[in-house]
Amino acid sequence: MTDRYAVIGNPISHSKSPLIHRMFAEQTGQDISYEAIEAPLDGFAATIARLRKEGYKGCNVTVPFKFEAFELCDEIGARARNAKAVNTLLFREDKILGTNTDGAGLLIDIEQNLDFKLMWKDALLLGAGGAAAGVLWPLFNAGAGVTIANRTLEKALALASDFEDCSVFARSFDQLSGRRFDLVINATSSGLQDEKLPLPAGLFKPGALAYDMMYGRETPFMTFAREHGARVADGLGMLVEQAAEAFFIWRGVRPDTRPVLAALRK
Ligand code: ATR
Repeated sequence: MTDRYAVIGNPISHSKSPLIHRMFAEQTGQDISYEAIEAPLDGFAATIARLRKEGYKGCNVTVPFKFEAFELCDEIGARARNAKAVNTLLFREDKILGTNTDGAGLLIDIEQNLDFKLMWKDALLLGAGGAAAGVLWPLFNAGAGVTIANRTLEKALALASDFEDCSVFARSFDQLSGRRFDLVINATSSGLQDEKLPLPAGLFKPGALAYDMMYGRETPFMTFAREHGARVADGLGMLVEQAAEAFFIWRGVRPDTRPVLAALRK
């Protein structure tokens, strides 16, 4: 019998996850279905209850439900505990298990696909919302020194306060001048509205990587980074790699992400 999976979000019609998981299933010979389901903003828990009743095996969770998913789980994996957000659910008979594959997806994309090693690198994480929280610990654990900059400084300070030895720094944008980084990650949602971030010109070290978690559009951050000599990457690789991690958790089979990423890039 075909095992059913889905991604739950709102809005969700733009999601590439069904296409990605169908490609994984075809490549690995796994008998699964995967669809996109829009849950009402006040109806996430009810949607999950319905899916469980209908026999779904698990689902991915995206904006804006990752924090609610965290609250709903009976058991939480270490990666999700640090992020305080869940993007992958596994339905068992009697309980819901939750984990977060976003950080692993980003790391694999940066270190393997883009061949950029994080150990000892100075990284700047722009934003302090859910997207930033999901990747902060993995970046730190990979050996990067991390500074978080956010429009609202208090939110950056709150994220950094989880690191009791003060090894993660919080800054406002106007405290960045004079600082230079090997890696700058845009985890703000500013690109959605085509809004420019107030970044100083000398932000990038020679050979720096500018990584925007968004994909499917040229954001003002990408244009800025290109103009200031950085190597630029979008978030499509992260999307495919986090999906592959979820697929592995569900199916115990690791898909080859390269042909899938290449197909999406076309
Ligand atoms: P997500 O889940 O995508 O991270 P979020 O939790 O709403 O969404 O967080 C959005 C992030 O983008 C926040 O860090 C926000 O900054 P504030 O904390 O100051 O609100 C940031 N952001 C959104 N639009 C921005 C803009 N135009 N300029 C700078 N930062 C912006």
